[in-house]
Amino acid sequence: MSLFDRPALRTLWCFLSPSLLLPTMAQVPRKKKRKDSALSLGGGGPVGAVKFGEAGIFLVERRMGSSRRRFLTELARKKGFRVEGQMSESVTHVVSENNSGDEVLELLEKQNGICGTEFTAALVDITWFTESMGAGKPLQLEKRHRLQDALNILAENAELSENEGPYLAFTRASSVLKSLPYNVTKMDDLKGIPNLGDHSRKLIEEILEGGTCNEVQDLIQNVRYQTLKKFTSIFGVGVKTADKWFKEGLRTLNELRASTIKFTKQQEAGLLYYEDLILPVTKVEADLIKQIIEEAVHRFLPSAIITLTGGFRRGKEYGHDVDFLITHREEGREEGLISKVISWMTAQGIILYDDITDNSYHKWKYKESETFDRFAKCFSIFKLQKMVHNLEPGRTCSHGSLAANETRGIGLAGHAGSPRHLTATAAKDKDWKAVRVDLVVAPFGQYAYALLGWTGSRLFERDLRRYAKHFEHMILNSHSLFDNKQNTFLLAATEEEIFAHLGLDYIPPQERNA
Ligand code: UTP
Ligand code: MN
Repeated sequence: MSLFDRPALRTLWCFLSPSLLLPTMAQVPRKKKRKDSALSLGGGGPVGAVKFGEAGIFLVERRMGSSRRRFLTELARKKGFRVEGQMSESVTHVVSENNSGDEVLELLEKQNGICGTEFTAALVDITWFTESMGAGKPLQLEKRHRLQDALNILAENAELSENEGPYLAFTRASSVLKSLPYNVTKMDDLKGIPNLGDHSRKLIEEILEGGTCNEVQDLIQNVRYQTLKKFTSIFGVGVKTADKWFKEGLRTLNELRASTIKFTKQQEAGLLYYEDLILPVTKVEADLIKQIIEEAVHRFLPSAIITLTGGFRRGKEYGHDVDFLITHREEGREEGLISKVISWMTAQGIILYDDITDNSYHKWKYKESETFDRFAKCFSIFKLQKMVHNLEPGRTCSHGSLAANETRGIGLAGHAGSPRHLTATAAKDKDWKAVRVDLVVAPFGQYAYALLGWTGSRLFERDLRRYAKHFEHMILNSHSLFDNKQNTFLLAATEEEIFAHLGLDYIPPQERNA
């Protein structure tokens, strides 16, 4: 089922540049083209039909923010979920993000006069919502969600405190729970389950007994946790920087914007497009971006291969960004490609921000293992044009009223003064969306390793590299696999061959989520 099942008025994001879309659309007869173009995905379902009426969802705006709430509401409704704009008796699931249960109850009481004792809806975390979206139906409520949420919050806190050990422990515990084929209702259900440390078990026990866990409740209220979470959600801001700003007394984005801090170019962009960049990117958007990149790349290198990697390759329906790997069968042809492609797309008004790194593999010590690779790449922010499709006969796709070059530099207009005071993405009626895109270019001989490295998940890559090192005495990274026993590099043309070198059964991308 697609996100865009409703055949009536549909809203889609696609790229600004009409010149990129028109040639493909013009090749097919008019009536067919809507069906055939990538813009029209899936069919079925009556107009705006509610498929899952029994579950009524209410999204709590606090800490979620209005734009994210609006986006999630639209998304859920397109999938046939019933999302209520207001709290009512027909609401069965109250979904909130980073609020404790008590906070939500207090809020509902204040805003809707609903008393906790007469409250029958379940209070659930955003994880339930995103997993339900992924599954295409409301998932049955399980204690497991609550447990997973708690573990994720503790993992996040450990990450924000740069405590790697606990971060990995909580992350592993959470992904173990996620992978269990049954519901967890008592500690006995977890007998013999690996990767559950003492701390995680204690927390699970507390939640199974009392429904909540003090450590998590305290954390959610903790100002440092809240502030660092917010600051590190800005593109270009890591834990160290966020912590520094926190120690300087800064607490909100507006305080940052009003401060005299000297931001990096990346952080400037992160603040400017903040409201968009925290919205999930959908698979449909990722596919649209792929089309555009293919067109751009093939202009300069016709038979280049472009692969969607990252979470989307693992089958995820949402991501925080979109990752692509580019290569060419004739090694060397890919050199210099990225800057040409980015320059061209910039001229089309598609690129809001770019940071190109040249390939530096020649500086790589021959079997060095690093978290970061040395491919030519570009961390960018794309500008997706939001289009309204009206499928009444005779009406065609509107590409938006702005020509590419008219909107370049948008968002800096409006007020006088430095751009740091502004946000380019807050306006409700703006017709585009900023999306983070990573482009990586690999020489063909390293393509399989690059593909494996960029498909993730991070935890999977980490564990695979550790496995290679400790059990096979091999060094695995995104460029190569070095066998210390034979003192040689092992070549691989496919991911299957890499797993075979490691003595492992092939693990398909969908199974690399943990
Ligand atoms: P992402 O951070 O994009 O994660 O890295 P994701 O799995 O796609 O999930 P989203 O985007 O949050 O939805 C994708 C993979 O690329 C590797 C990471 O190891 C991860 O496995 N990667 C990412 C690098 O190798 N280097 C980088 O600079 C960034
Ligand atoms: Mn990604």
